Amino acid sequence: MNAMIYERYGGPEVLHPREVETPVPGDDEILIRIHAATVTSGDCRLRSMNVPPGFRLMSRAMFGLTKPRRQILGTELAGVVESAGANVRRYCAGDRVFAFPDSTMGTYAEYKAMPEDGPVAHIPGDIPFETAAALSFGGTTALHFLRKAKLREGETVLVNGASGGVGSAAIQIARHMGAEVTAVCSAANAELVRSLGAAHVIDYATEDFTAGARRYDVIVDTAGTAPFARSKHALAENGRLCLVLAGMPQLLAAPLQSMSGGRKVIAGVATGTAEDLEYLADLAEAGSFTPFIDRRFPFDGIPDAHRHVETGRKRGNVVITMHPDD
Ligand SMILES: NC(=O)c1ccc[n+]([C@@H]2O[C@H](COP(=O)([O-])OP(=O)(O)OC[C@H]3O[C@@H](n4cnc5c(N)ncnc54)[C@H](OP(=O)(O)O)[C@@H]3O)[C@@H](O)[C@H]2O)c1
Repeated sequence: MNAMIYERYGGPEVLHPREVETPVPGDDEILIRIHAATVTSGDCRLRSMNVPPGFRLMSRAMFGLTKPRRQILGTELAGVVESAGANVRRYCAGDRVFAFPDSTMGTYAEYKAMPEDGPVAHIPGDIPFETAAALSFGGTTALHFLRKAKLREGETVLVNGASGGVGSAAIQIARHMGAEVTAVCSAANAELVRSLGAAHVIDYATEDFTAGARRYDVIVDTAGTAPFARSKHALAENGRLCLVLAGMPQLLAAPLQSMSGGRKVIAGVATGTAEDLEYLADLAEAGSFTPFIDRRFPFDGIPDAHRHVETGRKRGNVVITMHPDD
């Protein structure tokens, strides 16, 4: 099969197409023919090894010390089950599915094998492959942090970095959970975040949300510009700060910071399970969560997609369309 591989860490130019062996599904696995994948901020980090402070050694130990251990990047996919192993019961050939291999990666390719009981779910209704492919990365991350924050109906949430992949999902999921959402983004993205459900919008270039009188029950920082020292002024009593982007020093400080003043700091790596994917699929079917697609690239355009994502200014999600005719 055709795959976009990388054999060394570096800029987008390290990505190049290569014929590789098509995976053979085991007895408990399905083989998925990929119709759409995404390029996420996470993909760019793993390609370049530009990771948050304090994570470099750990990341290289996990993904390859001097060169990538797994050569095919890509954490999300949507496609059609091509074949199913002998023990598989939930899926059969022809089923439309989406999956989130996450850090095991491998979606910049024509096919991907996934365990039946792994992070895979049916695509509900007639949701397009491109939309389904973009449900997981932002969706599971937002879900993970909002659940850790124990967000309750009627609470107020501020999302910093609201127009990105995680932020645009966090707005919609927090809204679904019954919260009132304030979005912090550049002026150019104000209309977008309002359309996703933000009741209030703050342009970070002209207004500092921590300097105002408003207090928030939950603050979700995806941009890395709202650490505890800054955000504590805007946190309500018993407020929770979710540091989606946090370096090791912030991660280590979080338990200590949580011990003062009734506030809580939540940091760490988000996880996504099959149940989470089903939850997100239900939200998508109900129209409560629709991943916003910024740009689409063909398979050969994956290096250009990386260049775009790496600007740090993408809006929502960037999708790779494997079969433009589908
Ligand atoms: N902890 C975890 O498990 C986990 C999981 C997923 C992602 N992450 C991390 O979370 C971060 C965000 O991921 P993403 O995929 O959402 O990134 P993204 O799609 O690239 O979005 C980044 C957003 O940040 C906004 N931004 C830039 N400067 C800003 C500022 N000064 N104030 C407020 N917003 C600003 C940009 O919006 P404007 O153009 O409007 O400025 C952009 O939309 C990444 O660093 C990623 O590595 C962590």
